Amino acid sequence: MLKAHYAQRGPKPTEFIEALPLTLPELSAGQARVEVLAAPINPSDVLTLTGLYGMLPDLPAIGGNEGVGRIVACAEDVSSHQVGQIVLLPIGCGSWVSELIADASSLIPLPPHADPIQLSMIMVNPPTAALLLSEIVDLKAGDWVIQNAANSAVGNYINQLAKARELNVVNVVRRESAFDAVRQAGGEHMLCDGPDLPKRVRELVGKGNLPLGIDAVGGVATDHLADSVSQGGTVVNYGMMSGEPCQMSPRSLVFRGITLKGFWLAFWLRQSTPEAQQVLYGDLAARIASGELHAQVHATYGLSQIKEAVAAAASGERNGKIVITPQKD
Ligand SMILES: NC(=O)c1ccc[n+]([C@@H]2O[C@H](COP(=O)([O-])OP(=O)(O)OC[C@H]3O[C@@H](n4cnc5c(N)ncnc54)[C@H](OP(=O)(O)O)[C@@H]3O)[C@@H](O)[C@H]2O)c1
Repeated sequence: MLKAHYAQRGPKPTEFIEALPLTLPELSAGQARVEVLAAPINPSDVLTLTGLYGMLPDLPAIGGNEGVGRIVACAEDVSSHQVGQIVLLPIGCGSWVSELIADASSLIPLPPHADPIQLSMIMVNPPTAALLLSEIVDLKAGDWVIQNAANSAVGNYINQLAKARELNVVNVVRRESAFDAVRQAGGEHMLCDGPDLPKRVRELVGKGNLPLGIDAVGGVATDHLADSVSQGGTVVNYGMMSGEPCQMSPRSLVFRGITLKGFWLAFWLRQSTPEAQQVLYGDLAARIASGELHAQVHATYGLSQIKEAVAAAASGERNGKIVITPQKD
């Protein structure tokens, strides 16, 4: 058994993470042991390894924030869960491990026959996509939204959820070679980012209402969205893929009344009720199990290849997510 362990953070995300042998203690009352089936590497995991994320675990730590596993043992007093059950791991659990021990009450049972790789990505990106479409602006069927990094996993989910709500999406990517990936994820209207983006957006959308821009990039890309949304519209930033501060010119802020907001799922999880979370995650799990919601996967890696996996996740121009599948070791 292995764990992806790091005891320091540094500017290079691969520098300190390493696969070390894992031993687990005996189960205590109320606990279950779970073998991890799949756990993605998200941009937030890379930022956690470099120390740039908004919330950092104490060191030493095990990498990985979310994932899916199968219960392999339960303490004698556990009656709520059974061996063999597929479960969602608790968020922030250090999911890049062969096996882990958790309170059985923290393990959420999942549909048994769904793809564990797709389910392993449910905790962070699908709710982010859903909330970006529901919490920022009151969108009506027929409205347009514009998003950048449209070939990202969040971008995939936004296209799929928007379709179900009869919203139109302008998908902005930074390279034409990503158009196919957006199309495969269900997107229709693709544009490359650039200084003339707002002009091309106006040609595409015509008199349509475009009240929301969804920005994962920052820097000048934020300004391109701000210049593209309708007068009085909103741009929501939820990512820092460029590493640059968001730019927005007074032309948008002052003369067009555009608002710039931020969104972080962690705040929503802190502020929302358990009932609201159950409704959201229940709906997303059903959509993932049915295949309606899915993210592209570029490659899977065992834990013994954790450095290669993190390097792949930290590099651009992938064709989807990098996912750790510890049982492949
Ligand atoms: N605020 C929140 O609560 C929240 C929750 C979830 C995710 N996020 C954020 O959402 C974003 C997308 O996450 P994800 O897991 O969906 O990503 P992902 O699937 O790993 O995709 C990364 C995306 O970023 C693009 N990209 C990479 N480097 C870039 C650069 N220097 N400039 C512009 N674009 C660049 C990639 O384009 P190429 O393919 O061209 O490289 C790709 O579209 C991340 O910033 C993540 O941190 C935020």
